[in-house]
Amino acid sequence: MKACTLVTLEELERRAQSCQRCGLGETRTNLVFGEGDPGADLMFVGEGPGEVEDRTGRPFVGPAGQLLTQILHSVGMDREDVYITNVVKCRPPANRVPTKQEMDACWEWLAAQIALIRPLIIVTLGNAATQRLLGKTEGIGQLRGRFYRWKGGIELFPMFHPSFLLRNPSRKKGSPKYLTWMDIQAVKERLSLLRSRTRDG
Ligand code: URA
Ligand code: URA
Repeated sequence: MKACTLVTLEELERRAQSCQRCGLGETRTNLVFGEGDPGADLMFVGEGPGEVEDRTGRPFVGPAGQLLTQILHSVGMDREDVYITNVVKCRPPANRVPTKQEMDACWEWLAAQIALIRPLIIVTLGNAATQRLLGKTEGIGQLRGRFYRWKGGIELFPMFHPSFLLRNPSRKKGSPKYLTWMDIQAVKERLSLLRSRTRDG
């Protein structure tokens, strides 16, 4: 994607809008490219647009998105402070998990977004995004809550998917929701540390 590092995020989105690289292009209402701060230090990568996202063209604006917003607020962050996107840009019918072929077909868009935004940390949400970016097959329960060295000096931090938390609302110690509220604090702290290192040279 060398050529794409020369374009802006807006131009990349304009190009993506006509994408028909996989079958999801035929069934989408709107392509959901991503939104947020183009200079964000922190980027979230979810699984794929759901019903509300498909209708509005915006990522994480349905019930899972509202929970993601709350998770951000719990550490004093806002959606506008980060960049939010998905591993596939078009809704899989009936919200099924995107196939490997669909994620591969969409990969260039995400890779170009990452190259343009150059975040310090990428948080992957749930199994699909985590396994695709890390190239691992373990489940999110095993992979979450740790920083992995990724490409280009970026650190990757997997967390539970907010949709999973909606199905598992317990906040008891050790529950997925409890762990997620700890995880986002770890992200916030790591971000401060990485930012101070970047500033110091
Ligand atoms: N779930 C996702 O993975 N992404 C969205 O944008 C919305 C719900
Ligand atoms: N499966 C997912 O994709 N994500 C979770 O967070 C849990 C199960």
